[in-house]
Amino acid sequence: MSKPQETAVYTHGHHESVLRSHTSRTAANSAAYLLGSLKPHMRILDIGCGPGTITADLAELVPDGHVTGVDHAPAILDQARATAAGRGLTNVDFAAADVHALDYPDDTFCVVHAHQVLQHVGDPVQALREMRRVTKPGGFIAVRDADYAAMTWYPAVPGMDDWLELYRRVARANGGEPDAGRRLRSWALTAGLTDITATSGTWTYSTAEERAWWGGLWADRTVASSYAERATEGGHATTGQLAAIAAAWREWAGQEDGWFAVLHGEILCRK
Ligand SMILES: C[S@@+](CC[C@H](N)C(=O)[O-])C[C@H]1O[C@@H](n2cnc3c(N)ncnc32)[C@H](O)[C@@H]1O
Repeated sequence: MSKPQETAVYTHGHHESVLRSHTSRTAANSAAYLLGSLKPHMRILDIGCGPGTITADLAELVPDGHVTGVDHAPAILDQARATAAGRGLTNVDFAAADVHALDYPDDTFCVVHAHQVLQHVGDPVQALREMRRVTKPGGFIAVRDADYAAMTWYPAVPGMDDWLELYRRVARANGGEPDAGRRLRSWALTAGLTDITATSGTWTYSTAEERAWWGGLWADRTVASSYAERATEGGHATTGQLAAIAAAWREWAGQEDGWFAVLHGEILCRK
C-alpha cells in the first residue's frame, strides 16, 4: 500500500515577511500548554518546524534528551540548523518529512509536537494518526493551531474584513483549513486519540511597536509572499485588491487604540 502524501500547498511560503513572524516564536509564547509535561531526558519530534526557533527552545528544555525538527520544505531546514548552531545546541537535528507519512518506526518519541501546521495540511486526521503512531505509549501528542475566523480586532478599519475573508478563501483553495483551532479536538477524536486535554491560547498586539510589527508583516506578506502569488494566480484577488488590504493593515497599525487578538486551539493528548 502506498503511503499518503501531502496534497495541500503551504499557503504562506517562507518569504521574509512570513519568517518575521515564525522567528519570533518561542516555546513560552507558542507551546506553554506543553511545557509542564516535559522532562529533561525526553526525545521530541517537532513537525513543521520552519526556521526552528521553537525547536531550539525545546532542545534547551530537554538537555539530556534530543529534538528532531522536520519540515516538508527542505529549503527552510538550513535556517533551522543555523538557529540551533547559533545557540550552541548539540542535541537537535533536522530532516525533511511529510507529516502524513513519517519515516520513523512506531513508538519512537516521548513527545510529538506541531505548531501552526495542521491548518496547512491536506489531511489533518491522517497527520494525527501518524503523530500518534510514532509516539511512545504514555507519550504526548501536542498540537496548536490558529483559528482565523475567531481572530478579532479593534477598531473596524475598512478593508480588514476583506483580508480575513480573502485569507480564508485562499487557504481553503490551497487544501488547508484556516479555522483549524476549533477543530483540533474533533480531528484528534477521529484519529483515535482518547486522552485529550483541549485548551486555548492567544497572542495579543496592542502597543505601537506590536501593532507596527504585526500590521507591517501582514501588509508585506499580502503583497509580496507566496500567499500573494496564490491569491492572484488562483483568481481570488487582483494586485489592486491586495494593495488595498495591505493599506488597511497599515491603517489599523497606525491606530493609537488598536488591538488585535489571535486565538489558538491547543490539544495535549496522551497515547
Ligand atoms: C506556519 S509554519 C510553522 C513553523 C513553526 N512550527 C512555527 O510555529 O514557527 C508551518 C510549517 O509547516 C510546514 N508544513 C506544511 N505542510 C507540511 C507537511 N505536510 N508536513 C510537514 N511540514 C509541513 C511548512 O513548510 C511550514 O514550515
